[in-house]
Amino acid sequence: MNSSRMKSSRVVVLLMVGVSAVVMLLYLHLATEVAHLRNTIHSHSSLSYQEGIPSLGSRVIDPDSLVIIYNRVPKTGSTSFIGLAYDLCSKNKFNVIHMNTTRNTPTLSLTDQMRFVYNVSNWVEKKPGIYHGHLAYLDFNRFGVNQQPIYINILRKPLERLVSYYYFVRYGDDLRPYHVRRRMGDKMTLDECVAIEHPDCSTTHLWVQVPFFCGHHAECWVPGSGWALDQAKNNLLHSYFLVGVTEEIADFVAMLEYSLPRFFRGAYDLYLSGSKSHLRKTVKKIQPSEETIAKLQNTKVWRLENEFYNFALDHFHFLRKKTLIETEGTGRLMDRGQKFAYEKIKPRKS
Ligand SMILES: *[C@@H]1O[C@H](CO)[C@@H](O)[C@H](O)[C@H]1NC(C)=O
Ligand SMILES: *[C@@H]1O[C@H](CO)[C@@H](O)[C@H](O)[C@H]1NC(C)=O
Repeated sequence: MNSSRMKSSRVVVLLMVGVSAVVMLLYLHLATEVAHLRNTIHSHSSLSYQEGIPSLGSRVIDPDSLVIIYNRVPKTGSTSFIGLAYDLCSKNKFNVIHMNTTRNTPTLSLTDQMRFVYNVSNWVEKKPGIYHGHLAYLDFNRFGVNQQPIYINILRKPLERLVSYYYFVRYGDDLRPYHVRRRMGDKMTLDECVAIEHPDCSTTHLWVQVPFFCGHHAECWVPGSGWALDQAKNNLLHSYFLVGVTEEIADFVAMLEYSLPRFFRGAYDLYLSGSKSHLRKTVKKIQPSEETIAKLQNTKVWRLENEFYNFALDHFHFLRKKTLIETEGTGRLMDRGQKFAYEKIKPRKS
């Protein structure tokens, strides 16, 4: 009786020791598990925080999903240039879409801005694609999209553009000779227009390239605004891939072919061989007199427009010199080729 009691109490003690040992082990196991879990969660969140951007996928450049916007300024040789894109689109497998606005107004309502941005971003079947139209610069950042389009454009000397535009709306061009233009039948020359200070040649008609590059802000469209000029310069540098000039289209086309071959492969030869067939000429154009030129140039609007043109020209020449080289003999423009390399790549792949 006594011995059996002692036996059973010993069993109880052993059992209790055993159970607490198991509980202890279990606790330790769980504790390490929890710590482990905490660690992984922690490291995961910090990892995804750091790697969040590249894992977005859209940050990787996929040439097949690129969108180019060419927000062409009227009378800068844009029809000739876009003709190249239409000639190349089947062979190079991309889409070209013309975007027209009611009465050619270059600024869109807020709802139309959203429609356009949504359409350009989501219309997957039309990627890669070039959209072109007489549209003021539109900043896609404002709409929260994660892929920006590539903007390109062409500028022309402001007075030459004005002369071309003035006679174009009166006499049309050889592309659509029977199309009735706004001022068809009006025989007033630009000299006469300037002499009587007619609204058709007021400085608002010179304030075109600055506001096109400035964009969709009220101040952009105030003729002679210095703020608009600064904004236009900023956009040209930070938001445009390349801006060429009417006077040097061949160089512009060559630059595009070498830098955006997905679209423009073959464009340079096409331009050189068929440059005449791509030309669209205003039927009648009378060069303005020295007096008219002097009068137009003696305005703030002309000075700022001209400053913008020269700014763009300097930037274009800078890029052109870095990028292109003339082949000896033929004068053909070639890409200078890759002038950078990678080295000291660590860690080495095992
Ligand atoms: C755009 O052009 C087409 C064809 O010329 C025309 O039918 C349409 O009305 C134009 N759209 C606008 C918004 O002006
Ligand atoms: C873009 O607009 C066109 C023409 O209005 C329409 O057919 C197309 O479905 C639109 N695409 C998207 C993704 O919104």
